[in-house]
Amino acid sequence: IGPDVIDIRKLYAQTGMFTYDPGFLSTASCQSAITYIDGDKGELLYRGYPIEQLATSCDYLDVCYLLLKGELPNEQQRNDFHKLVINHTMVNEQMQFFLRGFRRDAHPMAVLTGLVGGMSAFYHDSTDINNPEHREIAAIRLIAKMPTLVAMAYKYKIGQPYMYPLNKLSYAGNFLRMMFGTPCEEYVVNPVLERALDRIFILHADHEQNASTSTVRLCGSSGTNPFAAIAAGVACLWGPSHGGANEACLNMLEEIQANGGVAKIGEFIEKVKDKSSGVKLMGFGHRVYKNYDPRAKLMQETCHEVLTELGLENDPLFALAKKLEQIALEDDYFVQRKLYPNVDFYSGIVQRAIGIPVNLFTGIFALARTVGWIAQLNEMIGDPEYKIGRPRQLFTGSPRRDVPPLNKR
Ligand code: ACO
Repeated sequence: IGPDVIDIRKLYAQTGMFTYDPGFLSTASCQSAITYIDGDKGELLYRGYPIEQLATSCDYLDVCYLLLKGELPNEQQRNDFHKLVINHTMVNEQMQFFLRGFRRDAHPMAVLTGLVGGMSAFYHDSTDINNPEHREIAAIRLIAKMPTLVAMAYKYKIGQPYMYPLNKLSYAGNFLRMMFGTPCEEYVVNPVLERALDRIFILHADHEQNASTSTVRLCGSSGTNPFAAIAAGVACLWGPSHGGANEACLNMLEEIQANGGVAKIGEFIEKVKDKSSGVKLMGFGHRVYKNYDPRAKLMQETCHEVLTELGLENDPLFALAKKLEQIALEDDYFVQRKLYPNVDFYSGIVQRAIGIPVNLFTGIFALARTVGWIAQLNEMIGDPEYKIGRPRQLFTGSPRRDVPPLNKR
């Protein structure tokens, strides 16, 4: 396909050969025009636009439009799109009874996986993945309703009444109100927190063929409905090596803090370097970035803005994270392996400052990534050459043998 890329399908057709590539370290599973990462430079582009510019000049719904349609919206398109999304923020009232079936102490990601999958039982007119109109309505419903579902899962957990969406608010402002407002008093959205949350959404909106996006593509390739495919993405994202890293990272920082803080960083780093400990520096390292993750830089800035706004400039966890980063980046172990902070290193500190509970961090990630999953799914289904995803294997089990009678086993 390009100078360094072999089209393995042609090779397979000619020779029957196929590649063995566990973890897909060197396999492109698709062609895509959505997101570009230059891992060596630490560059991230959505549809050609640098993430730094999008994070400062656009809001999340502009970025959703860009990812879905390929171009940034003009003023009219922007207004229409915002209106369309805002009009779909409510969820079917029956969904609250479905939610009530979960234990209140369930992990929010378990609940969210169920709720998103359950949407296919509530929105029958948008379940045909091969119908572009169905896909379009499903996309808007998912983007619009994810904040409502995440906030409902949270309110259910803490035993407070659900807050219905208020359509005059922005996407992020509405989410803040559904999370932290109560029917007892008017909720005033803090514009700094609103902007910070919106930026968190932008930074997480897409990231090409990561594990959850590949899961969504693979799941959708069977022709299942869009809600089921996105639910599969939510489930995959939950893992601590992927979206669950933000929760794991904050837990790690809190543990270091509780056991001596900055003074104990050296000891912790030694433990990470000892492979037998099984301890990793969470929020560090990336399959593609072999340089600083540009999202981590923006997240660190956002962290600073939010903590300043809330009068928490001296937050000990932020100081600890910055020191940990500095020490790690000077250590040969991390330098040789090109391990840098990823998006999850600072995102937990910002989210915690905003008031989001630790076990909901990955839910926020899922909310924001939903648009990327949909854009990738649409791109795949819209490609006339798309086929069901079906990896091969190298079989290592027993050769053919006969079933022995029970008394001979
Ligand atoms: N802490 C300590 N060592 C690490 C870390 C880390 N966070 N990350 C990688 N390494 C080491 C590995 O042990 C390996 O060492 P070796 O060469 O001596 O065997 C080397 O660096 C290469 O790492 P791999 O695990 O082979 O890299 P891979 O691309 O498979 O994994 C991953 C990438 C999963 C992100 C890994 O870096 C990791 O587990 N990081 C911590 C979890 C995390 O922050 N995940 C979030 C990723 S971003 C996201 O999904 C949103």
